[in-house]
Amino acid sequence: MATDEHILGRSDADDIEAILEISNTDMDEVVHAVKDNADALFTWDYERSRPALVKLYEKAKTSQWNGETDLPWDTDVDPYKLVADLRQSDARMGPLGHLATQPGSPLAKWGEKEWTEFGVESMNWRLSQFMHGEQGALLCTAKIVETVPWIDAKYYASTQVMDEARHVEVFAKYLDTKLTGHYPINAHLGLLLDDIIADSRWDMTYLGMQIMVEGLALAAFGFMYQMTNEPLMKQLLRYVMSDEARHVAFGVLSLKEYYAELTDAELRERQEFAFEAAVRMRDRFLQQEVWDKFGVNKKAVIKGLLSIPQSENVFQQMLFSKIVPNCKKLGLLDAGDAWLRRRFEEIGVIQFEDWVDTGEEYESLDLVAQDRAAAGQ
Ligand SMILES: [Fe+2]
Ligand SMILES: [Fe+2]
Repeated sequence: MATDEHILGRSDADDIEAILEISNTDMDEVVHAVKDNADALFTWDYERSRPALVKLYEKAKTSQWNGETDLPWDTDVDPYKLVADLRQSDARMGPLGHLATQPGSPLAKWGEKEWTEFGVESMNWRLSQFMHGEQGALLCTAKIVETVPWIDAKYYASTQVMDEARHVEVFAKYLDTKLTGHYPINAHLGLLLDDIIADSRWDMTYLGMQIMVEGLALAAFGFMYQMTNEPLMKQLLRYVMSDEARHVAFGVLSLKEYYAELTDAELRERQEFAFEAAVRMRDRFLQQEVWDKFGVNKKAVIKGLLSIPQSENVFQQMLFSKIVPNCKKLGLLDAGDAWLRRRFEEIGVIQFEDWVDTGEEYESLDLVAQDRAAAGQ
């Protein structure tokens, strides 16, 4: 059984020095190589034996959209207006809003000007990380095409490769043409993506990407979609979410079958990997690069953020609202001695276990099809 030291590289998940030590040291890097350690598998079994994946593949074929022509790129975007909408939700539900109310916090004295400037930087940072994460999904899914042994999964994954290319494309274009700058990859996110790609086992790519990274992205996009009134961003998120719901469903449907055959010891390795991913994603949301750019004492801010009681950190909890029910559906919460359940209890997200899982939800989230039906197409 692995210790936290082994899983996370530190014995205390909240060790601030260790968290800050993980930082991007090569800001000018253009190409980043990772060994993917996997065999590319042919299968000679062309039988369409997995009806749920067949159905998902058919859905993917009819729900394609064009990032260039299906979004209103002629919209004028005012980044200050964009963040003003999101500020309200941050102030109400976000951890920063909470932190600002704490006496002695570096944010306690912030006025309107600081919050607005910070909001614009934070938006640049957030969308940059989404863009890098989308590229991670592009590479992971291309790897799944090669490594998964089932023909129905290879077919489906090929459609996701196209989806992810489109997602990278639209986030990059939004950043370049509508916002005011972008950021290199956050080191915690980079570490997670490297770990996912480097793992030789095909199901680990799914678990890291489709269940954890995309499960979180689906929740985060949904949250931003609700909060923003900017029409281009809203439409972009609406269409990306529509694809992401299928991607998470692809993970749930594939791994449910595969995990039914694994031993408790093998499942324990999956539980540990899911926990590692959860902590890396939590660490990435501490947005240490933005504090640097803004000249704020990041150690003090991050200490403050980590000390917020879980019950009051609604935003962070909501990010797990898809991951936890999906892990439950896969049997990962309670396998063996329910190790993952206990870890999710510790990080305060277990209350989502009975929320709707994403195995079926993609149909109701097929917003592209709904828009086309409404337009009579
Ligand atoms: Fe994506
Ligand atoms: Fe995706």
